[in-house]
Amino acid sequence: MVEKRCEDPVIRDLWHPVAAVPDVVDRGPIRTQLLGETLTVQSKEGGDICVTEEAVQGTGASVDGVSLTPTLPTLQKFGFVWTSLGSPPDSLFDIPEFQESDRWYENSGSFRVHTSAGRAVENFLDLAHFPFVHEGYLGERPYTEVKDYSVATKEGEIWANGCEFYQPIAAVSATEGQVTQYSYRLAHPFCPLLYKTSPLNRERFDVIGIFVQPMTEERACAHQFLCLLDESNDDATIKRFQAVIFGQDKPILENQVPKRLPLEPRAETPIRADKTSIQYRRWLYDLGISYGVVRGSSPEQISVT
Ligand SMILES: [Fe+2]
Repeated sequence: MVEKRCEDPVIRDLWHPVAAVPDVVDRGPIRTQLLGETLTVQSKEGGDICVTEEAVQGTGASVDGVSLTPTLPTLQKFGFVWTSLGSPPDSLFDIPEFQESDRWYENSGSFRVHTSAGRAVENFLDLAHFPFVHEGYLGERPYTEVKDYSVATKEGEIWANGCEFYQPIAAVSATEGQVTQYSYRLAHPFCPLLYKTSPLNRERFDVIGIFVQPMTEERACAHQFLCLLDESNDDATIKRFQAVIFGQDKPILENQVPKRLPLEPRAETPIRADKTSIQYRRWLYDLGISYGVVRGSSPEQISVT
């Protein structure tokens, strides 16, 4: 199926993650998709990485019969390569914890999933699914209640604070169950972050995120970002833990219909646990996003209680 070109200027102007830097450096050029366009991500001499867009046959510019592949704006941040099909802002959002020297940082995997980027983000923001989808890890029955928490927009970001959940194995470093405190942060429409109590130091937070690459309107790649206080676990163990968690989410995500995210909250029953997702859908609506979503009528009148 030929994907229709993304005409959404808001989405085209965003920075999007397209690959983990070590994957490009170690494995050579990576061919991937962004907003339906085919891209090649490759390293150049001197450590730079460039992203080029493959010209669709017969439509790209050519000189003497050789087709030109436009080079896209590129930046490297948080261990990933980011690019844009439009005019991106000068910089990407920041994660101050990324600079702290005692943290273990890694791209813990890039997982493709057959759904929209918005659906993948919303699933990441959802606390209520833990005891059902991640039973024995991130949640456990009968601890299914989502306690009330606050959601607010500040300085162009969405923050959900005061979230709490009992988790039998909150992270690889956990030795016993704990009540985990969560805050969620959305500083980019497709890059949710969560801050959760570290099992090693209850005064500080592990930072976990997914940077979601909208490959098409209904296919995405979730690049996992981990910035943890963890001295004892090796890369392979942590990657395995993350792969197990994502493997539990993937079939749930791929069964959601429609695959594009409805921005009209009444399209799906809102409950208290969905407070963050209501705010998220409204934010996408207000930003004017039309790619990978079902816009419907204005969600203004829906109150977040
Ligand atoms: Fe999940």
